[in-house]
Parts: sequence; C-alpha cells; structure tokens
Amino acid sequence: MIYSRIAGTGGYLPEKVLSNNNLEQMVDTSDQWILERTGISRRHIMEDHETTSTMAEAAARQALDAAGLTTKDIDMIIVGTATPDRTFPSTACILQHRLEAYGCPAFDVGAACAGFIYGLSIADQFIRNGVAKRALVVGAESLSRIVDWTDRSTCVLFGDGAGAVILEASGQPGICSTHIHANGFYNDLLYAANHIGELKEPAYIKMQGNGVFKIAVKTLDDIVDETLAYNNIDKSEIDWLIPHQANLRIITATAKKLDLPMERVILTVQDHGNTSSASIPLALNHGVRTGKIKRGETLLLEAFGAGLTWGSALVKY
Ligand code: COA
Repeated sequence: MIYSRIAGTGGYLPEKVLSNNNLEQMVDTSDQWILERTGISRRHIMEDHETTSTMAEAAARQALDAAGLTTKDIDMIIVGTATPDRTFPSTACILQHRLEAYGCPAFDVGAACAGFIYGLSIADQFIRNGVAKRALVVGAESLSRIVDWTDRSTCVLFGDGAGAVILEASGQPGICSTHIHANGFYNDLLYAANHIGELKEPAYIKMQGNGVFKIAVKTLDDIVDETLAYNNIDKSEIDWLIPHQANLRIITATAKKLDLPMERVILTVQDHGNTSSASIPLALNHGVRTGKIKRGETLLLEAFGAGLTWGSALVKY
C-alpha cells in the first residue's frame, strides 16, 4: 500500500505589514470592530515587484529544504491560487521555471480558499496510485491586488502570502484521507469578476459576508463529521486543528464542535488575515516551525471558500 506523507513545509509572508490602525486611516473602520468580528489584527501586503509565483517560489524552496530535497526531485507541481500571475500559463508553470524543475506536470487549481486542500487531495491520489513520488503543493495569493481598498466590508479581511508542502510516497500514512466538495449554486456569494466575464465591473473581491459566514459554520461542521466517520476515529484523537484562517469566530465554532481547546488550534488569522489558499499551508508551516506540531501527531485540516468549495484532510504528520 502506498501513502503520501508530508516531508517538508515552507512559507513566505511579504515584509510589509498593514495593521488595523493603518486601515483606520484608509476606510471608516476601527481596530475594535475588525478584532471583534474577525480576530484579525494585521496582515502582510506584497511589494510591487512581488507576484504570486515569487512568493510561491520562496515557500517552495523552504519546503524543499525542510524535506532535504532539491528541485530536481519533484515530479508534480500543483498551485492553488485565485490570483494567478497571468490568465495563462498557469502560475504552476511559472513556478516550475523559477525552480528549473522542468518536465513534470504543473498546473493550477482554482478552488479559492479551498485550493490548497483540493491540491493536496489531487497530489495524494497521484502518489497513492504510483504515478508521482514527490509532489510540491503550494497555496499562494496576491489578494491585495484584487481588494477594493475603499470597501471596508472586504478590505480589512485579506492578506498576501504563500505556503507549500512536499508530499512524498511512503509505506505509512501520511495523508489518511481527503474530502473535497463544491456547491456552485452559491457562486455569487463570494467572487471576483474578471475582464472577460459577463460582469461589467472592476475585478475586485465581492462578498455577502453574513451569508457566507452562516453556510461556512454549518458546512465545516458537516465535513468534520464526514472526516471522522470515514476514518472511524473519535474527535478526541485529533491533536491539532489546522483550519482555513478566515475568521476567528468560524474557527472557534469548529474547535467547539471537536471539543478541542483553542490551544490545540493553529491560529495565524490574527497576524495573516485571510490569505485564501495560502492560509492552511502557512498555518501548518507555522505550527511545525514553532515546534507545536510533532511527528506522529494527528492533524485535521479544513477549508471553506468561494465556489462554494470546501474540503478537509486527516493527516498523520
Ligand atoms: N468596519 C466597521 N464596520 C463594518 C465593517 C468594517 N470594516 N465592515 C462592515 N461593517 C458594518 C456593516 O456596514 C454593518 O453595518 P450596519 O449594521 O449599519 O449595516 C455591520 O458592520 C455588520 O455587518 P455584517 O456584514 O453583518 O457583519 P458580520 O458580523 O457578518 O461580519 C464578516 C462581517 C465579513 C467579518 C463576516 O460576515 C465573515 O467573516 N464572513 C465570512 C467570511 C468568510 O469566511 N469568507 C469565506 C472564506 S474566504
């Protein structure tokens, strides 16, 4: 039986930090409102010379180093992103060029905030069936470029960054299971238009926050149940929850569902904001590098985003 295991993690956050107090100078908001409603205090914002692929490269190189591998060892590159460098080619191909890891398949996954979980699930299938041995899975986002900085209901929420993992074939799990879903009925609740679509509007993030919030809490509840039932394990066996970092209130609801104290939840939302597909690999990397997450522990990763899309992974780290 072949499984995939996480051989290394990496992350990249731009140096520039935008605090809630900075935002108070830009739109009619307050540090208190943002903190109470979202849990966010600050977020990282990329420089003009940075792109999704430059951030992805930094995260990927760190993950490769952690795995003790070089770019030549990768045989699949998947990038989850909603903010590609270009419409085409894929950011994964541009990343492949940056890494000089030519020849292997490279493609993007468009599943918004669930993009990393979707990518992880795809890579896991390829490794399990023996087609790939070492896959680079990245979540990377330049959300500051599609945020309307005059819209207080969205501009306080998002940040930039990239996270990466190397998945490697192994005789032991590894990734125990992944679960991915979508419901396009709700595609209008959260979207960014583009210049070729039917919507004659600027390409900014638009969100019906409250509607998304309610569906997110219920849906994440369900995916936790699905993941535990599939693996036939009790919630008490989860060592760490590594949630998509969109809103502290949503994360707290999932932790409560699992009866997990907040000390067993990897939290980065306060410092990163919502970095969409980058948020889970960044949180995972944070947990690993701060020494919280240890080899052999059981991790539950879960995400929810535009599409609507959602997914989870149960991982023996
Ligand atoms: N500062 C101050 N007031 C703000 C504000 C801001 N940045 N943004 C919105 N408000 C105001 C609204 O105008 C509204 O005022 P009104 O009552 O006078 O109309 C009030 O605050 C409440 O707005 P509402 O949108 O109902 O707040 P909320 O409690 O739902 O919180 C979100 C808003 C966006 C934080 C929350 O809905 C959310 O997190 N949604 C889900 C996000 C998510 O998970 N996305 C999917 C994954 S990417």
